[in-house]
Amino acid sequence: MPSDFISKRSSTLSPFYVMDILAQAKKLSQQGRTIYHMEVGEPDFATVECIVDAGIDALKQYKTHYTPATGIPELREAVAEYYERKFSVKIDPQRVVITPGASGALQLAMICLLDAGENVLLSDPGYPCNRNIAQVLAVESKTIPVSSLSNYQLDADLVARHWTDKTRAVMVATPSNPTGTLLPEDQLKELCQLVEQKNGRMIVDEIYQGLVYDADDYTALEISNECFVINSFSKYFGMTGWRIGWMVVPEFYIDAIDRIAQNIFLAPPTVSQYAALTALKESTQSVLDERRDEFKKRRDFLLPALERLGFAIAAKPQGAFYIYANCESFTDDSFTWVKQLLDEQGVALTPGIDFGSHLANKHCRFAYTQSLEILEQAVDKIDAFIQR
Ligand SMILES: Cc1ncc(COP(=O)(O)O)c(C=O)c1O
Repeated sequence: MPSDFISKRSSTLSPFYVMDILAQAKKLSQQGRTIYHMEVGEPDFATVECIVDAGIDALKQYKTHYTPATGIPELREAVAEYYERKFSVKIDPQRVVITPGASGALQLAMICLLDAGENVLLSDPGYPCNRNIAQVLAVESKTIPVSSLSNYQLDADLVARHWTDKTRAVMVATPSNPTGTLLPEDQLKELCQLVEQKNGRMIVDEIYQGLVYDADDYTALEISNECFVINSFSKYFGMTGWRIGWMVVPEFYIDAIDRIAQNIFLAPPTVSQYAALTALKESTQSVLDERRDEFKKRRDFLLPALERLGFAIAAKPQGAFYIYANCESFTDDSFTWVKQLLDEQGVALTPGIDFGSHLANKHCRFAYTQSLEILEQAVDKIDAFIQR
């Protein structure tokens, strides 16, 4: 028997603290308790029927083989047309790479841009997997604390102050997870100018594009052709389990990304690519927009309801389906507080610690990926917990 061993990079990989919460929620649910799931980062809606039908048709036609590593040409073209239809931006379909979710795209971008020992700048709080992918690649993630002063996003000033001679890339997400805040267009423009000047690259994660409320949606491609722009069919298109996304890369990187994709993934999932063709059709958009309107209604209920309970929300979330709330009037240990809330009232949230370390113990994330009725009940439960 060989002795058990594990690579340092995997043994030191951070877990999601919310997994503890999920395990506890499952246990309580098995005991017959009602659980209010506000920790889930995916739409509660099932994939739209016409998209599912397109997937079934693809299977029935035995579209079950590998495709090119960068995806089927018709989907790459459909993505390019989507940008033209929605944002009047013309891009060469050759720059579109189809990936296994935004997760696949994030990995490709980091592998392509960063060598071991170099660093990428990220916001704290921010999407946790970015830090973890960097760690696996022996790339340093330099997290920069952000606040409502910059809409919980990076800006040119913050990036200039944290830039080192090892910095190669800056990663942002608009709207952001966990804060739901947008990166205002001129803030991104200044960031792009700075990063281009410093010979680095911007990676702009637009996975929540389409889920933007009372603000104009835009794409970084309107600003620059030099960014890596990441997107996904997971959120607005409601296809999390299909594992399909895309990335638009600067022309110079097309060949490198193709080679990396061949080696890491071989190809994105075939059936999902055919289903995604239907997701991008103009005729599918009305259902998806109805769902977006439903998310907006939920945010419009939840945001003032949480503020009334005593949570502080420093920057209004204008997109995604998250509210990142300061809970310091109740606790300075949000992880323990979130566990107690679940235990006593059955409401599951994500603790701030999952998104970084900056004031993490004073924050938690609410996902409004449940019906308005369930959200109303959950708010009553949280109220009871606070009043106890
Ligand atoms: C900001 C952000 N980027 C990327 C992802 C990964 O999404 P997927 O791989 O399902 O497209 C997520 C998932 O929650 C996310 O919140």
